[in-house]
Amino acid sequence: MTTANLVLLPGDGIGPEVVAEAQKVLERVAKRFGHTFTFSTHLIGGAAIDATGGSLPRTTVDACQASDAVLLGAVGGPKWDDPRAKVRPEQGLLAIRQTLGLYANLRPVRVHPALMAASPIKEDRIAGVDILFVRELTGGLYFGEPRLREKVGDHTRAVDTLVYTDVEIRRVIRMALKLAAGRRKLLTSVDKANVLESSRLWREVAVQVAAEDPSVRLEHQLVDSCAMRLVTAPKSFDVVVTENMFGDILTDEAAVITGSLGLLPSASLGDGTRGLYEPIHGSAPDIAGKGIANPLGTIMSAAMLLRHSLDLEVEARAVELAVDEAVSNGARTADLGGDKSLSTSEMGAAVLARLG
Ligand code: IPM
Ligand code: MG
Repeated sequence: MTTANLVLLPGDGIGPEVVAEAQKVLERVAKRFGHTFTFSTHLIGGAAIDATGGSLPRTTVDACQASDAVLLGAVGGPKWDDPRAKVRPEQGLLAIRQTLGLYANLRPVRVHPALMAASPIKEDRIAGVDILFVRELTGGLYFGEPRLREKVGDHTRAVDTLVYTDVEIRRVIRMALKLAAGRRKLLTSVDKANVLESSRLWREVAVQVAAEDPSVRLEHQLVDSCAMRLVTAPKSFDVVVTENMFGDILTDEAAVITGSLGLLPSASLGDGTRGLYEPIHGSAPDIAGKGIANPLGTIMSAAMLLRHSLDLEVEARAVELAVDEAVSNGARTADLGGDKSLSTSEMGAAVLARLG
């Protein structure tokens, strides 16, 4: 029996709606398998700005640090989008990733056979796609210093810094290598080594780390051609590891080829077992509050939480299977198409019904 202290960070937009369904799923898992999960809900993002003035209150950080795992909905929205605003919802997300040391973001991209028609890519190209992205999450352009804007004569100059140390590169490549060893043993390291110095270091370290496990084949790919290969031959990837910004862009591209952005989960991990789990979709302000958001990405994230933070593989699979069956049996929220759409809570109920 496992006892776990779980923090929920619903955030903004559809975040609260989808997190509520995932919480029900976790509660059902606890009941069915005899575990005790306790939940506490905290503020992040725009909701935190409105309530406290900051995007990541100290109480939220403390609760996350004292937890076994964190489940997050989404942050951001038009209300907080003024480019000149001093505080932004996204800062809260970046800060919690960094504070918890979550340097690797796992984004599995699978195509559900029943949803292939929703993909913009032809079915024969995407049938059987099974990619695991490992995105570096606490370095690169997102965090590099200096970061500034200044007046230079009559003009304005803005600076972001792309910086990586060998230590930051090594730990994320090592995690990706281990994950590849447990899968189809192909590791694609994505960089821009023909232009960027940080990418040349990335490539060098990737070669060193990959030598630790010769059973995994390491290949290098430039980020621009990787973007093309994702649409032309997505089946040719197994594990893809890349730096923060490239990973942000490529994973949105990869998600959309599955035809079901709303179904994809992610896990952000560091050296310990504590992780942060979130669907890869955003806060979808256009549909927030309507009760029509797809909760499956968050429910699948809860499955990853069970697997990676609580070491509950059987339970994780049970949740994934329940989602799979619900979708196979025609359960569809509006984003997945079909003429009879389920609401957020009806979709949640469809999963619960299959969890027993
Ligand atoms: C993501 C999101 C975030 C990111 C934003 C909301 C800061 O796009 O998780 O991919 O860029 O990392
Ligand atoms: Mg993104």
